Amino acid sequence: MSADRYTLGYDAAALAFVGRRTLQSHGAFFIEHLRDGMQVLDVGCGPGSITSGIATRIGSGSVTGVDLSESQVTLAKQSAAKQGIANARFRVGSAYELPFAEAQFDAVFSHALLEHLREPVRAMREFLRVLKPSGVMGVATPDWSAFVYGPSSPALVAAVKAYEALQVANGGDVNVGHKLSQYAVDAGFAEVKQQARYENFEPLSIITDVLAAKLEQAGHMEHAGTLREFERTPHAMFAEAWVSCVGYRPQHA
Ligand SMILES: C[S@@+](CC[C@H](N)C(=O)[O-])C[C@H]1O[C@@H](n2cnc3c(N)ncnc32)[C@H](O)[C@@H]1O
Repeated sequence: MSADRYTLGYDAAALAFVGRRTLQSHGAFFIEHLRDGMQVLDVGCGPGSITSGIATRIGSGSVTGVDLSESQVTLAKQSAAKQGIANARFRVGSAYELPFAEAQFDAVFSHALLEHLREPVRAMREFLRVLKPSGVMGVATPDWSAFVYGPSSPALVAAVKAYEALQVANGGDVNVGHKLSQYAVDAGFAEVKQQARYENFEPLSIITDVLAAKLEQAGHMEHAGTLREFERTPHAMFAEAWVSCVGYRPQHA
């Protein structure tokens, strides 16, 4: 089986798209599970904008952000230092082989990673392994089957589908959102619960820029052009469906 590839990449449009996220804007579903003094792991932390919010929330605790990309780990370290955050660490590592011993963390969080993985259940088993008994996991991914965008046209639908195809070809699953709970159960989690929400992009260019850039890099100029034209359409909308899932490591897992 070939390795999965991270479709968004690390160009300026992708970094702007990911780096605007905060714990409040994108990790709100997990805030109630974060308490002062906790040891937390953030897998696929990217530039660490959500990780910083976790650090602030857990006060005397400590958060470790892990990312496959050294460039993201460097950015996350710089950003935490700039904000004077002393209880966040960052290191390179893979979700499939987390560089930690068993039962190290009170909470494992992962936002916008599992949709890029060929083996999301294998990653969740790693999350389970590094969690202490009764520790909590919170994951969130988009589910492209429920995105809302328009005014619709065959060309716009084709452009969005062309982006989806790039992610699928890289080993991702654009419809993983509604499968998260089953996957969490398959990985061994208990008391699994899910929620969904929409993120409405204003201006539309927040998302269309990043999708168009990926399509251009893949040589799909016509689809990219459709998205760039769409973002100038008066009264248009583009909303991303997010599914989050929370589960616990059983006491005797
Ligand atoms: C869409 S970004 C999400 C960043 C951040 N969690 C957020 O939502 O703002 C996905 C991140 O996962 C990282 N990634 C991809 N595959 C990974 C893997 N197998 N293990 C760890 N990180 C991975 C990428 O390098 C990228 O920084």
